[in-house]
Amino acid sequence: MTLIDGKATAATIKAEIAARVEEIIAAGGKRPHLAAILVGHDGGSETYVANKVKACEVCGFKSSLIRFEDDVTEAELLAKVKELNEDDDVDGFIVQLPLPRHISEQKVIEAIDYRKDVDGFHPINVGRMAIGLPCFISATPKGILELLQRYGVETRGKKCVILGRSNIVGKPMAQLMMQKQYGDATVTVCHSHSTHLKEECREADIIIAAIGQPDFVTADMVKPGACVIDVGTTRVADPTRKSGFRLNGDVKFDEVAPLCSYITPVPGGVGPMTICMLMLNTLLAGERSIYAR
Ligand code: GUN
Repeated sequence: MTLIDGKATAATIKAEIAARVEEIIAAGGKRPHLAAILVGHDGGSETYVANKVKACEVCGFKSSLIRFEDDVTEAELLAKVKELNEDDDVDGFIVQLPLPRHISEQKVIEAIDYRKDVDGFHPINVGRMAIGLPCFISATPKGILELLQRYGVETRGKKCVILGRSNIVGKPMAQLMMQKQYGDATVTVCHSHSTHLKEECREADIIIAAIGQPDFVTADMVKPGACVIDVGTTRVADPTRKSGFRLNGDVKFDEVAPLCSYITPVPGGVGPMTICMLMLNTLLAGERSIYAR
């Protein structure tokens, strides 16, 4: 069994990005610039955004953090999005989700210039991804593809079962795993209403679990030799930790791991790759690699 080390892989990729940035600077180019909009003071979002800003430093990017209080109006937020769209110094930006209930997340996402949408959430990027055109691919599915590729996990022609059909993981993951230029696999998507979910999993060469139910995938669901990717990061109470919680994956790691050819741990598997892929998208935005502006 090979443990897929997302933390180490992410560190390697960030070093590769930093080296590329120095090449750009040496050639007289501009430092990539990522801006992040954070609304309110949600603990999880604060941590995510702080880690994104930190990753920018590691990669040699310029970063800007723009904060609003919870009572910001939708119009004010949309005005800031417009300003960032028009700011030539900003290569890419994100609006950290979730947003307060009085603001339409979809409206905000659609207001972002798709050429600066390094989260890959704009319908133009989602649509282009679905038909295999160059685009910004969202961070979690992109990070999983990168791990599979860097660890040499064979996906072509393999049976891949994806657990979960969310817009940010399950659906894009299924699109990418089926496409010839990425996974080239035979893909099955299972969800809360799938009747033969266990049987489907037992046939899979690759399982990608993204349902947000701790310890959902058990040993009886995994074919010996399968590759198991765990996207789950549910916070469960743990009084022995200083934070009061720990992150629990969707896979019952201790009993599943011995069966696997490859498996990702939680934490330290898919998680660290997501911010790293946001950095890669920002580099691509800075280089105008996908869209000219
Ligand atoms: N909230 C949780 N994950 C994400 C993400 O990848 N991007 C944004 N913008 N918000 C998030």
